[in-house]
Amino acid sequence: LFAGETDFVKGVVAMDGMPPDDRLEVCFAGRSNVGKSTLINALTGRKALARASNTPGRTQEINFFTCGESHYLVDLPGYGYANAPVKTVEKWQRLLKAYLSGRASLRRAFVLIDTRHGVKAVDEEIMSLLDRSAVTFQVVMTKADKVKESEREAILTQVRGAIAKHPAAYPEMILTSSEKGLGIDVLRAVIATLV
Ligand code: GTP
Ligand code: MG
Repeated sequence: LFAGETDFVKGVVAMDGMPPDDRLEVCFAGRSNVGKSTLINALTGRKALARASNTPGRTQEINFFTCGESHYLVDLPGYGYANAPVKTVEKWQRLLKAYLSGRASLRRAFVLIDTRHGVKAVDEEIMSLLDRSAVTFQVVMTKADKVKESEREAILTQVRGAIAKHPAAYPEMILTSSEKGLGIDVLRAVIATLV
């Protein structure tokens, strides 16, 4: 799946601009700056496919990338704090929620959680939205390289506790570091079984 061509298809700013839902897709959701775009680059092995940056609010559209012949990887704008005007952020949030609750071809949402921070209230909100929309989601822990192994377990326990309350949650989470390449092959394998 990841051996073939990966390409940017389009950036979408409104639901009526979505590509036809004629193929399965997985999306990457999470707080601003959690590492969504960087993870897509790590998965596809293309350093600058999705635009990443240290400024929260980098991704401002729903970006579709082809993965293999007939699937999409979807990079979403972040939620929570973003370095952009309030009105603009509200617009992305509405689009994000419309996408997450109304996309027939969405096979699974990956909800990214920073290994330093664990699950926050805004993550809970998104998880509840996914419950209501019956979209299965799986937690991907990011930036594991920033947390010592001895300190990870406490955070992972908090995250396990949080996802246990969500019927749409897939119980297993995946620990990753795009920086170090940790867990990327595991995530690729999971995606390959889905689409
Ligand atoms: P928005 O588009 O603003 O919502 O952010 P995003 O979730 O797409 O985050 P992005 O991929 O742009 O990454 C944010 C910052 O975190 C960048 O400076 C990345 O280099 C850094 N980053 C992402 N993944 C990792 C990781 O695994 N380890 C480390 N150390 N840094 C990472
Ligand atoms: Mg981004």
